Amino acid sequence: SAALVEGPRKVLLAAPRGYCAGVDRAVIAVEKALEHYGPPVYVRKQIVHNLHVVSTLEEKGAIFVEETDEVPEGALVIFSAHGVSPAVVQSAEDRGLQTIDATCPLVTKVHREAVRFAKDDFDILLIGHEGHEEVEGTAGEAPEHIQIVNGPEDVDKVEVRDPNKVIWLSQTTLSVDETMLTVNLLKERFPTLQDPPSDDICYATSNRQAAIKKIAPQAELVIVVGSANSSNSVRLVEVALEYGAKASYRVDFANQVDESWFEGISTVGVTSGASVPEVLVREVLSLLADYGYADVEEVVTAEEDILFSLPKELRATLKEKG
Ligand code: F3S
Repeated sequence: SAALVEGPRKVLLAAPRGYCAGVDRAVIAVEKALEHYGPPVYVRKQIVHNLHVVSTLEEKGAIFVEETDEVPEGALVIFSAHGVSPAVVQSAEDRGLQTIDATCPLVTKVHREAVRFAKDDFDILLIGHEGHEEVEGTAGEAPEHIQIVNGPEDVDKVEVRDPNKVIWLSQTTLSVDETMLTVNLLKERFPTLQDPPSDDICYATSNRQAAIKKIAPQAELVIVVGSANSSNSVRLVEVALEYGAKASYRVDFANQVDESWFEGISTVGVTSGASVPEVLVREVLSLLADYGYADVEEVVTAEEDILFSLPKELRATLKEKG
């Protein structure tokens, strides 16, 4: 077994971590739909990018599909927190599906910006990861005006019609630092590049990154709880390494934590992505306690009290039923 260090061992637990308001709302939307309509309830794509959340909802009767054409005609389908393009909404309508839109309001905000600046005929540079569901949904609002910029490496490839009529928008779950780097490079090419009316990277993403930036310099090892396809979780590993952690690993579950990681480690940082239920963090903490890291100090860098009301289609139904 690994050589555990002599002397004090401790955990620095990031706060905020875990569920954001958009994830909370989306998960509750599926649960309420299951309660009120009964299973099966179809969900297009993973409601949020977390394996545990998805399998728990599957056990309750949710059926996750890739596209609306897999949903029987007339059935109920929920759109995931990451948002959908107008084409997806249309295809659901064409199939006569009943829909509940669980898109995070902060993603919807970016969609509205895209629509507005496309209407004003701007070239829109959408900074984000090509192929990510959120980026597909946002880009689908105005495909003829939007080009995707994956990161600094893409800046040279950008071509616009009028360099004085360009705006950048972004995916909500990016690295704050890397996005600023990309924007600065873009501004070297397009000095009058417009900023979004308000930050597109959401409060939850930036708060979780700020918390791990505080912890990483003092922790030799940072464990991030989150799934592989969770953009904000993966970013937390990168940020931890950039800010001084000697090692950082992402795990879905406590049983993926490897004993060898603890060799020579006195201080372990722990955080979790915005789609991660707290129970998964508790399981990691209890495993850490078994290894002698029982002293847990919570490092609080922000308080979050944002709450979103349920999707309007669901609010209407719940109201009718009283
Ligand atoms: Fe929304 Fe940000 Fe969460 S966009 S779903 S609040 S990570």
